[in-house]
Amino acid sequence: MNSIVYTVIISFFCLTRLLTAAQCPTERGPLTVWLADATNCQADEAHCNRFGLDYVCSEEIVNPHPNATCQVGVKALCSFPPIPSSLVETPANTFKQLAYNVWELRYLYYQIGQRERTCRIIPETFRRHPDLDAIIFNEAFMGGCIAGFNLSYSGEKLTFRDILHEYGFKYITATIGNPPTPRKFENGGIFIASKWPILEEDNVIYEATQPLTADDLSQKGASYAKIQKTVGSMSRVYHVLGTHLQATDNIGSDNVRRNQAREMHGLMLSKNIPPHEPVIYGGDLNADRFSDLAADIFEILDASMPVIVGDQNYTKDKTINDIYDGKGSQKWIDYVLYSNAHLQPSKLATVQVVIPKTDDPFGVCLDEVRVWPRPLFADNPRCRKTKNITDLADHFAVMGHFQYEEDVTVDVTPTHPPTPPVVATTIDPAGINVQPGFPIYRCGLMMPRTAMPTRPTALITD
Ligand SMILES: *[C@@H]1O[C@H](CO)[C@@H](O)[C@H](O)[C@H]1NC(C)=O
Ligand SMILES: *[C@@H]1O[C@H](CO)[C@@H](O)[C@H](O)[C@H]1NC(C)=O
Ligand SMILES: *[C@@H]1O[C@H](CO)[C@@H](O)[C@H](O)[C@H]1NC(C)=O
Ligand SMILES: *[C@@H]1O[C@H](CO)[C@@H](O)[C@H](O)[C@H]1NC(C)=O
Repeated sequence: MNSIVYTVIISFFCLTRLLTAAQCPTERGPLTVWLADATNCQADEAHCNRFGLDYVCSEEIVNPHPNATCQVGVKALCSFPPIPSSLVETPANTFKQLAYNVWELRYLYYQIGQRERTCRIIPETFRRHPDLDAIIFNEAFMGGCIAGFNLSYSGEKLTFRDILHEYGFKYITATIGNPPTPRKFENGGIFIASKWPILEEDNVIYEATQPLTADDLSQKGASYAKIQKTVGSMSRVYHVLGTHLQATDNIGSDNVRRNQAREMHGLMLSKNIPPHEPVIYGGDLNADRFSDLAADIFEILDASMPVIVGDQNYTKDKTINDIYDGKGSQKWIDYVLYSNAHLQPSKLATVQVVIPKTDDPFGVCLDEVRVWPRPLFADNPRCRKTKNITDLADHFAVMGHFQYEEDVTVDVTPTHPPTPPVVATTIDPAGINVQPGFPIYRCGLMMPRTAMPTRPTALITD
């Protein structure tokens, strides 16, 4: 009798151990994802690590989706790493805005390590810049990291939105141009993520395009977010507009970009933003910093380039980006600008090219124009070119850093437009040395220190 009870207890114990050992935890953390698409269909720790994710456990694939990459084999539960350093708060009158073209073109036509790179972008960005306030994303067409790539099957997702939300950027505008239309079947790839509440959002899809270019088939445009930053007892509103102007280059493209800039400026005007609130523009303008086109776009937006700091001179530099082979073009085409017609960043206005990257190289398939409907990883023999890289996109990011007067009036809407610029001294009454050319608002009054440089008033032809 005793031995039967004993055997039953032992068998039960062993069975329970066997079952629990074979099973993954029933409780999943917030940023976990099942990946069932390893090249050999045996997803293991290395498959999670491929994307910079931590390995949790593996299980046999059961009841796969009929379009899933692996119908039999093993899937792995992977977990996104926790935020590398806690977010840092800066006073409400300062604002750090990043613009980042993340090169997340859709699978089907491109194999450019989309998942491997973009899964690393957000942790590496916050590791270096824990004090960011908002990020404008460009070319986040699928959604970033483990995103959906295909209408009929993508597998489980863990997107930029999920990661940003968990990392403390809980306020995120819609990706513009979603859902796509039959004629413009790709979205605009643009959205704005903010650490602070977004009081209002809007967007425009550009009418100015060149028919049948890749730009025309995607719903490029401008995204607007009215962000309220509150720290301690101080609260400030920032108006952020993010865009990605036409990339295709052929006859007439520059005028398309000018017209797109006019449409973005129109979106800004439609918001009736009081002149004592700041307006920040950002994104890939596809206009080189020294070109007439860039000068025209700045004029159309009535915006200024902040003072450049840091040692990088290009936002897309094929000579140093290890996605490329050490040669090729160098361009500054990504921007964070401030509007001249609104509150001026009188205490600080800088822009810096920043390079989020990993310490350790990771392998990607760089088979750029490749018709294949799902991800090809570096260990897949179908991939015609693999590379170990540390850079996370074809562009670097660009970071605008602005600081405004503390004692500006924020709750009174002026009944008349700001007074025209008047020449004043370059020393602030409070003794703060400021850059010449930065007019300041104090209690709703514009007090420029020096005359703004006059811009050519020649008409831009269409
Ligand atoms: C979606 O993926 C499935 C499975 O890989 C593939 O058969 C199908 O052609 C893809 N559809 C599109 C529209 O790319
Ligand atoms: C599988 O993919 C095909 C082609 O894209 C699609 O027509 C079909 O609906 C998909 N099956 C399921 C169950 O989603
Ligand atoms: C950027 O340009 C400056 C001035 O010409 C130069 O000193 C600096 O080395 C350049 N930076 C890089 C990374 O090449
Ligand atoms: C990438 O690195 C791995 C591990 O060090 C190595 O085995 C592989 O050959 C490298 N691939 C390329 C294309 O250099």
